[in-house]
Amino acid sequence: MVDNINYKKGIILAGGKGSRLWPITKIINKHLIPIYNKPMIFYPLATLMLAGIREILIITTKNDQLIFKEFFGNGEKLGLKIKYKMQINPIGIVDGIRISENFINNENIALILGDNFFHGSELIPKLKNASKSKLSTIFIHPVNDPSRYGIATLDDKNKIINLEEKPQKPESNLAITGLYFFDNSLISKSKDIFPSQRGEYEIVDILKSYLSSDKLNHQLLGRGTIWLDTGTNHSLNLASNYVKTLEDRNGLYIGCLEEISLLNGWINKNEIKKIALEYEGSEYGNYLENLIIKTI
Ligand code: G1P
Repeated sequence: MVDNINYKKGIILAGGKGSRLWPITKIINKHLIPIYNKPMIFYPLATLMLAGIREILIITTKNDQLIFKEFFGNGEKLGLKIKYKMQINPIGIVDGIRISENFINNENIALILGDNFFHGSELIPKLKNASKSKLSTIFIHPVNDPSRYGIATLDDKNKIINLEEKPQKPESNLAITGLYFFDNSLISKSKDIFPSQRGEYEIVDILKSYLSSDKLNHQLLGRGTIWLDTGTNHSLNLASNYVKTLEDRNGLYIGCLEEISLLNGWINKNEIKKIALEYEGSEYGNYLENLIIKTI
């Protein structure tokens, strides 16, 4: 069970052209291509669910919305409430926030990029800390290619002293991952920022605004945790291999939405049984079948 949370709503940004994955994404939406044995979007959705979030807005392109709707419906089967919104132009995270204004409705909101993959034993307690906090939280993770990401610099008291978007000469190796918990001042902050030198509204400018009012927490996802932005062929393959290795070895699925919902007490074993029947003949279906007989 997940209780006492201050963050009840989450957004998955699953629009965009996916151009780094062409030609695959000329045919299929990036968030539907597999990370090993599940569609990519299962993993960010799982991350929000692990944080205790049940009200979800999925933002997709105009052309793809129907596929997502047909698959997830209103989310009821998973114990969720899922809504949808179209992003007409793939112009970034801040645009995604602005078009979610009605859904956010001046509440706290978690936002995850649809190609972001998180896993590790540290993750769940840190997600829960963020969702119970009244402040906003970013998740940072050491990487060996920091200039590809937003970067956070910490001082020796573990306080954020600088945030920069894709710096050529990064001051630190701590990437700002694509998972954000924003308090209810997000919408007003999103209206207060200006385009950057490259002509885009940058999420980092919103983060800076939280930082300057001393309202930005951070959680370090360190050793034993993995974060991948799976929007390139290389990282997609890394994520697939990672999921395969762990699942093959310990028989426990990563990103199994029904299992998370069961553990959160949002659906029961009878409901799992019905979904298992829909997947009959697949490994995923067998895994769901096994959840029904499992006692832990
Ligand atoms: C975006 C953000 C960046 C963040 C990254 C995480 O970059 O602008 O700060 O580090 O997501 O995936 P983009 O994926 O748009 O290049």
